[in-house]
Amino acid sequence: MCGIVGYIGNQTASAILLAGLRKLEYRGYDSAGIATLWDDEIHCVRAKGKLQNLQDRLEGVENPAQVGIGHTRWATHGKPEEYNAHPHMDTARRIAVVQNGIIENYRDLREDLKAKGHEFRSDTDTEVIPHLIAEYLKAIRAEEHLTPFLEAVRRAVNDLRGAFALAIVNADYPDELIAVKQQAPLAIGFGKGEFFCASDTPALVSHTRTVLTLENGEIARLTRLGVEVYNFAGDRLRKTPQTLNWNPILVEKQGFKHFMLKEIYEQPGVVRAGLEAYLDSEWTAQSLTSPIHLSLPEEFYADLEQIQIVACGTSWHASLVGKYLLEQLADIPTQVQYASEFRYGASPLTPHTLTIGVTQSGETADTLSALDMEKRRRTEMGGKFQPKLLGITNRTDSTLSHLVDHLINTHAGIEIGVAATKTFTAQLVAFYCLAIDLAYRRKTLSLDRLEEIVTELRLLPAQIESILEVQERYVEQLAHEFTETQDFIFIGRGINFPIALEGALKLKEISYIHAEGYPAGEMKHGPIALLDEKVPVVAIAMPGMVYEKVLSNAQEAKARDAKLIGVTPMNDAEAAEVFDHLLPVPAVEELLSPILTVIPLQFLAYHIAARRGLDVDQPRNLAKSVTVE
Ligand code: F6R
Repeated sequence: MCGIVGYIGNQTASAILLAGLRKLEYRGYDSAGIATLWDDEIHCVRAKGKLQNLQDRLEGVENPAQVGIGHTRWATHGKPEEYNAHPHMDTARRIAVVQNGIIENYRDLREDLKAKGHEFRSDTDTEVIPHLIAEYLKAIRAEEHLTPFLEAVRRAVNDLRGAFALAIVNADYPDELIAVKQQAPLAIGFGKGEFFCASDTPALVSHTRTVLTLENGEIARLTRLGVEVYNFAGDRLRKTPQTLNWNPILVEKQGFKHFMLKEIYEQPGVVRAGLEAYLDSEWTAQSLTSPIHLSLPEEFYADLEQIQIVACGTSWHASLVGKYLLEQLADIPTQVQYASEFRYGASPLTPHTLTIGVTQSGETADTLSALDMEKRRRTEMGGKFQPKLLGITNRTDSTLSHLVDHLINTHAGIEIGVAATKTFTAQLVAFYCLAIDLAYRRKTLSLDRLEEIVTELRLLPAQIESILEVQERYVEQLAHEFTETQDFIFIGRGINFPIALEGALKLKEISYIHAEGYPAGEMKHGPIALLDEKVPVVAIAMPGMVYEKVLSNAQEAKARDAKLIGVTPMNDAEAAEVFDHLLPVPAVEELLSPILTVIPLQFLAYHIAARRGLDVDQPRNLAKSVTVE
C-alpha cells in the first residue's frame, strides 16, 4: 500500500527512482512522484494516475541529481489528484517527504503547524511531516547539533502516531537521505558508494542483494559513505545487512502478458518446492518418524488443544481449507477469523492455543496487529495462556517474521500480480503439511491412511501441470461468452466451499464482475432467488462425501435457467450430463482436490478480465500489500 524508494550515490537518481517505482507499482498506482536534489533546490515532479504518466512527464527533462526519493500512491487521505501526490514539501520547499502508512494524529499536528504559520497544499496526512521537520530544524540550528537534519527528523517522528515508513531529503543537507520505519516495511540496499531504500526488495535486487530490513522505531541516515541506524531515542544501533538469496527473475514477466498468468503457471513448481521442503520423499507407513519435517521445536507441539487462524482475503480462504484439514485430519478444534474483525472482537482466551497468521505479503496491517494483540494479551496472562505464534508466508524477510516465534516458508517466492494465485496454492501446501504432521503426532489417522494421503500429495505438481497444459485455451474461448455477464455465483461444499469463495473473489477483483461464493447447500435458503438465465453458476463437484449433493444443487440452479459451469473430474459422464461447460481436473481424492480445483477458476477470472481489456495485474482500487488498517 504505497511504495517508497530513495537513492543516494553517483548515478542519475531519477532513472533509479523510476525503475524502483516500477517494481513497487503493485503496491499502489493512483499517482506517483519523485523529488531530486540538485543546484541547491528540490525538484519535485508528480503526476496523477499510473507511473507511466510520471515517466512521460520526466521524459526529455535533464535531471543530473544523484540524490532523491520517489513514491507510488494508494490513496488513503485525500483524493488521488496531483496535489495530493507525494512527495510533499514544507512551506519553503526545502524538505521533501514520501510516506507509506497513516499518521493518525495528523489533524492536531496540522492545526498546530498552521497556527505557527506553515502553509499546507494538500489534503494528506503526510504533509504534516515536512512542516514538522522544518519547525524542529529552526530550533536545532541554534543549538548547533552535529547532525541537525537527522535530529529534526528524530524529534518529528516522536510526535507522530500511526504506522509509517518515510524517506526524506533536505536541500540544505544535500548529502543525506533519511529513512524511517514504524510498522510499515522499509529495506535499505547497500551498493558501492551508493545506497538505496525501498518499501520492498524487488526495487533493490537489480542494484544489490545486500539488504538491511529496518525494524520498528528505527531511523537510517544514508550518505555516500555508508548507513547509520538509530532508534527513536537517538541511540546508534549496530546492524548487519543480510544477503538476499532470491532470484531477480521472479520480478520479471518473462514473456507472459501479465504477472498473474506467469504466476498461475509457476504453481506446479511452487507446490513441488513446498513438498520438497517439508515432505519426506522416502516416507512410508513403515517409517518411524513423521512424514513432515517443519523444523518446529518439540515444545511447539506440546499440550496443543486449539488453533486459531487470523488472515485476510485470499489468505483467509486458504485458512478455511486449513481449518478443514486440521479438524478432519488432526482432530484439533480450529477457528478462522478475519484479522480485521479479530482486532476488535477477539474470542475469549483459551489455554494451550496456537495462533497462526497467514499472509503472502507478511505485511498486512490487520493480520500483524491481530497477532501483536494476541501476543500481548497472552503474555499478560502467562502460564497455560502464553503465546504460541506461527506465521505462514512466502516472505520470510517481512515484518511478520519479527512478530511470530516460528515461520513456515511456503516457498512461493515473491508474487507481483495483485490477485493472489501461486501464494494461495502454496499456503494450502503448508496447511496440508501442518495437518499431516499434527495427525501423525496426535495419532488421529492410521499410518496406512497417512500413506495414502502422502502418496496423492506427491502427484499434485504433475496434476497441476496437466491442467495448465490442456485447459488454458479452452477457458480463453469460454471467457468470450461471459465478458458482458454482470453476476456470477460460485458454489462448493466441504473442503471446496473456500474454493468457491476464492473463485468469486478472483473474478470480482480483476474483472469487476459481481460474484458471490456460497456453500452449495445454502443456495436454497435465499441466494437461489438471484438465479435466472443471466446469472451463471460455477459449481465445484469433486467425487467424495458431497459430490452427489453438489450435483443436485447444480441441477436446482439449472432448473432456474442458470448456465452451469462445472469444475469436475476428467471424463465424468454424470457431470457431462449436468453442466453446460466443463472445466475438468485430474481425478483426485476430495481431500486434496482444492489445490487442483482452484486452477481453472484462476484461469476463468484471468481470461474474462483480459478479454474485457482490463489491467489484470493492477486492478482498480487494490494494492498488493495492504499496510493500512
Ligand atoms: C486477493 C488478494 C487479497 C489478499 C489480502 C491479504 O487476490 O490478494 O485478498 O489475499 O489482501 O493479503 P496478505 O496475504 O498479503 O495478507
